Parts: sequence; C-alpha cells; structure tokens
Amino acid sequence: MAPFGLSGRPLQSTMGPMDTNFTLAQYDEAAAFIRSHTRHRPTVGLILGSGLSGLAEQIEDADVVPYRDIPHFPVSTVAGHAGRLVMGRLARATVCTMQGRFHYYEGYSMQQVTLPVRVMRQLGVATLFVTNAAGALNPSFAVGDLMLIEDHINLVGMAGVSPLRGPNLDAFGTRFPAVNRVYTRRLRDLAQKAAAARQIPLRRGIYAQLAGPNFETAAEVRMLRAWGADAVGMSTVAETIVAHHAGMEVLAISTITNTAIDVLDAENEPSHEEVMDAGKLIVPRLTSLLLAVLREMTGG
Ligand code: HPA
Repeated sequence: MAPFGLSGRPLQSTMGPMDTNFTLAQYDEAAAFIRSHTRHRPTVGLILGSGLSGLAEQIEDADVVPYRDIPHFPVSTVAGHAGRLVMGRLARATVCTMQGRFHYYEGYSMQQVTLPVRVMRQLGVATLFVTNAAGALNPSFAVGDLMLIEDHINLVGMAGVSPLRGPNLDAFGTRFPAVNRVYTRRLRDLAQKAAAARQIPLRRGIYAQLAGPNFETAAEVRMLRAWGADAVGMSTVAETIVAHHAGMEVLAISTITNTAIDVLDAENEPSHEEVMDAGKLIVPRLTSLLLAVLREMTGG
C-alpha cells in the first residue's frame, strides 16, 4: 500500500532526497531472499564497524550472502567494509553478521543505512550487537579501550535526519517511540559481568553520532565533551534506534581508535588510517568480549 498523508496524496511527493522509505513487503522480500540462501535461522544480529569485520572469520558453518545480491540492500563503499552478511554459529548462538555497514556520509538515506536492521528483525533476530570505531572525548580513555554504550546523543537526529521519518510501519513499532532505554539494561549488565570475569577492561559512556565524513573541529570536540559525550563517531545511533523501535534488545560497544583533538593548531590530526590500524589491534579484545557475552546469553 502506498504511504498516504492526511491530504490523501502520496507522501513521497513531500519527501526530500534524504528519505527513501521502504515498504514492509520490501523488507520481507530481502528477508525471504536471505532465508533462501542460508541453512541458518539467526536470532542474534551483529553489526561490525570500520576495521572490525575480522570477527566474522570465527563464525562456524558460515553461509555468506553479498549485499549486492540482496534485494533493496545498498552496497558498502568504504575501504575496510567487506559488504556481506555472514550467517552461522558463534559461541552456541546462531548469528547474522553484517561484515561492513552503511553510513549516512556515503550518500545513503537513513532508511537505507538501517534497512538491514529491519531485515534482520524479519529474519527472526531479537538481539542486536552493534560495534563501531570512535574517537575518545573522555580524557581518561585511551586508544584500544572498549566502551559499553549506555546512552547516546543523536546529533544527526536532533538536526532532523531520522530513519523513522516518513510513514510509520506499525508492523515494526509505534509512531512515537521512547528512546530512554535503547541500550538494554540486561545486556549491559551481562557485558559488564562477562568482561569482569575475563579481566577485559570495559569503559562505559555516552556516544555522540555525527554525520561525518569529516572529523571534528577542536571547538566541536570541546562542545561534545561539555555536553556529556564520552566518545564520538559516524554510525550506530540510527541503527540502534530502529532496532529499539522494532522491539529488539540492543548491546552497543565502541572501540576507541583515536583521541579526539581538542586543541586548535595541534600538530597531529585524526585520519581514517589511524582508525583502521587501531581497529585491527582492538579486534581480538572486542572478539573476546562479544564471545563472552554470547556465552553468558546462551549458557555455553
Ligand atoms: N570522530 C568521528 N568518528 C570517528 C572518530 C572520531 O574521532 N574515530 C573513529 N570514528
């Protein structure tokens, strides 16, 4: 059914280029395609951020589906993002892993960025783990740290760019979702327990999502810190909002790949290479943590 506004005219005509609304049938079409290309019926979703896709290599009995084959899926354009779904067994859970995600700065709409989350939900995924690379705002954080996201500041959303803009699909969730409990308490507690038991240091904090692709000015870094953010990045929040809207449990972990620079005319500057290099070093630690959380979840 076409999405109609109060006027009775299709809403599409009032949509800006920032929106590409999908129908329930389109999400279902993507899910049906994936289902027909895997033996697995995943219940846990995993989104792997920049430089972090190595974790997918640990998946057993893997079935791989490239994004380009899946109806309605965008194709990832950034180096370091593999662009495929990997389904299989990980720590006794059946997972659907995004090896590479979509970013708003690539030119996708927020609905495209978050399409895989809704497709996963249609596949039967009830729990979503989201990872990202982030710059540290909190001065006590160091490169290599893992940060459990407790809450976020959605700067892109506050500026009017939301994946939930446009006709609401009631099959997923309500028109006006609450977002004060996006990062499921039960999973945060599990992650802290799992980390403590295995002596994996785990910071906690607030993640600010910016649109990118540029990094931040020194003044922006100081502003974000003053607003209470501990880490900054260019992803995650749109995905976690869509997951929460659809009733999924969410766990999100930032890997601290660099320190956000808060001094004007500092000698050094952040770079994608720095983020990717640090990501590679953090993958083993992130992998241990996520496997530990999965084991806590599955009792395995
Ligand atoms: N800023 C924004 N995004 C990022 C950063 C950063 O410092 N590091 C990794 N992703």
